[in-house]
Amino acid sequence: MKRLFKISLALCVCLIVGTPMRAVEMLPTFGDIDHIHLPALIVQHADGDLSLQLRAQDTTYIDNAQYKETVIKTKDLVQPFYVTIHVRQWKSVAITETWYEILHTEKKPVRLERYDSGYLPIEGDAPYLLHLHGNWAAEGVPTIEPLTRGVKTIRNSDGARNAHLDAPQVMISLDGVPQENYGRVLGAALCWSGNFEIRVAATDEKGFHFYAGIDPMASEYVLAPKQVFTTPHLAYTYSNEGMGGVSRAFHQWARTCGMIHNGNATRAILLNSWEGIYFDITEEKILAMMNDIAAFGGELFVMDDGWFGGKYQRNSDDAALGDWTVDTRKLPNGLEALTKAAKERHIQFGIWIEPESTNTLSELYEKHPNWVLQERGRELKLGRGGTQVVLDMTNPEVQDFVFSIVDNLLTKHPEIAYIKWDANASIQNYGSPYLQALSENKSLPFRGVGGVRSNLYVDYHLGLVKTLERIRAKYPDVVIQNCASGGGRANYGLMPYFDEFWVSDNNDALQRVYIQWGTSYFFPSNAMAQHIGGSPYLMTGRTTPIKFRCDVAMSGRLGMELQPAHMTDEERAQCTVAFRDYKALRSLIQLGNLYRLVSPYNDKYQMSNVKLPETQSVAALMYVNDTKDQAVLFAYGLSSFMKQASRRIRLAGLDPNRTYTLHEKNISVKYHHDRGSWGEGEPCELDGKSFTGEYLMSVGLDIPLSTEYNRDYPSRIFYLIGN
Ligand code: DGJ
Repeated sequence: MKRLFKISLALCVCLIVGTPMRAVEMLPTFGDIDHIHLPALIVQHADGDLSLQLRAQDTTYIDNAQYKETVIKTKDLVQPFYVTIHVRQWKSVAITETWYEILHTEKKPVRLERYDSGYLPIEGDAPYLLHLHGNWAAEGVPTIEPLTRGVKTIRNSDGARNAHLDAPQVMISLDGVPQENYGRVLGAALCWSGNFEIRVAATDEKGFHFYAGIDPMASEYVLAPKQVFTTPHLAYTYSNEGMGGVSRAFHQWARTCGMIHNGNATRAILLNSWEGIYFDITEEKILAMMNDIAAFGGELFVMDDGWFGGKYQRNSDDAALGDWTVDTRKLPNGLEALTKAAKERHIQFGIWIEPESTNTLSELYEKHPNWVLQERGRELKLGRGGTQVVLDMTNPEVQDFVFSIVDNLLTKHPEIAYIKWDANASIQNYGSPYLQALSENKSLPFRGVGGVRSNLYVDYHLGLVKTLERIRAKYPDVVIQNCASGGGRANYGLMPYFDEFWVSDNNDALQRVYIQWGTSYFFPSNAMAQHIGGSPYLMTGRTTPIKFRCDVAMSGRLGMELQPAHMTDEERAQCTVAFRDYKALRSLIQLGNLYRLVSPYNDKYQMSNVKLPETQSVAALMYVNDTKDQAVLFAYGLSSFMKQASRRIRLAGLDPNRTYTLHEKNISVKYHHDRGSWGEGEPCELDGKSFTGEYLMSVGLDIPLSTEYNRDYPSRIFYLIGN
């Protein structure tokens, strides 16, 4: 059979085992490659030599309950320069990770000019690339394009975050436009939170070479003798079940292989204060919000930005970051009163912090101006609020300070069950006072132009991870949300330290269908924080029914983010029904296997082989449990016109031989005149009907999503129970 595709890792391992073979098959190095490769590793040795000819010296194998790992030690033919190649294959899930450990014993530091995490040759008849390109409030927009001759590069140079604009996860379909449930697709995620560069380069034949790693731009890494540099891991998967297969592998890996702390746990339903009251925090308002979330049946209240400050008050985004003491003008009885109140209401309490930043209007900045990233002699560029600057996470003292923010909160208030860790600034000031001092320290070996100053982009994230590791060692159980102006840090570099991430600052339910769709390509639903927002929505002005807003948020980790005091009785009643039903379906939604059925992007990318422009535009997805006897189906109408046919939705992932009974969930509420109150209305005609899995997957369902049944933005949720 014609070999169209190869993941050459296993092959290359065989090739270089035992004999001192060239390592270039697995790690193309500058000075050892042929004309069709790009280098994945470029090194300037201490004496100026730019070549690297690695040869395998020793291969060992690790085989434990979780994974098999091949460890190949290599050495340069001339210099005392060593690279250890790691290839880890997980046993319970089809994910392979590669990474390199770099070490030398040269007389002086060497400069790593490029240091990718992995390289892979790819052959396909008509390869297509899928990558996520978005922005703040519009994260995760899939871009699908054919791979053509030349080099396609995807990179992010924000410095502190790496998933707004371009994200470090991609898929490559080998046979044309990637399809959801069939076709051969490769998935790759660089497990790194800083700047990255992913390249797909055409070879001279019909193949391509894939490279991924830290972006070397302004990041030549200066490595002292005997210092080990470990590249970020690069995680791959390959599926012949299309994009869906790749997604499910990443989801499973995230949940079961320790990528998310406690990844197989379900998450609580919460109310976050941000879009309800912004900085206008008072004890009275917080207590009222707690009453509301408890009354709806929610389980957690999170107090967002605005609760701290001393000399400078946090009434807007221009002051007080870094001054992490409770503002007693707003909260006269401190956090004690709030944690006590939460306990009385049988809910948990959570709090917002932004530990890596400060404002020039803060006591922290006045005391430690040298803790801020800045280039000596240059004016500070200021971010959010016209005053925000980023702390120098390369500095161990700053790392201690950041650790102490969490440590103080959790030591004084062990009742805090949840922390939202935000990051709202890019690295705009390229300069670390700490690395500058190291470079100028005569007793250290960092000589030459700049010393270690170009380590900044990398050491920032190594410092961040070190701090997070310390936090997790002491506080393994507190739930921590990864937020970066929304989904700016949706990456697998930080996933081991966080339980979930904030998908987007945009809570408009319609746009959320799209944002959540793209994000789900790589991340599991229990990691995706999705909140019911207000209507009309403050950013887009769009009015959407409460039922639609609930149904859209319910497909991931459910929460709400609005002022409950402004909700109508209908909205309150619907949220109460939604919370009740979500609790019953929670483990299925948060831990089930995702099948995306109809993409909201269909029109744009023709991802479906059936194109019916005259039908209503819809999106549908479902989760199925491992034993395939339970599933939950979400269907959303994205545009609705009278008498417009709704599209038949074919299900996936079911057992064709089982019979499934449909139960409609989160049924629209209506006013019951006899009772004088709001309560559930009637389910649609599909409720209680039974179909075989084969019928549901081959014929599909006509889900009532027209204006005859619902209003604008109709939606339905069904729970399927198989016999
Ligand atoms: C940006 C986050 O994405 C929002 O959810 C909110 O926490 C604000 N920061 C608070 O300043």
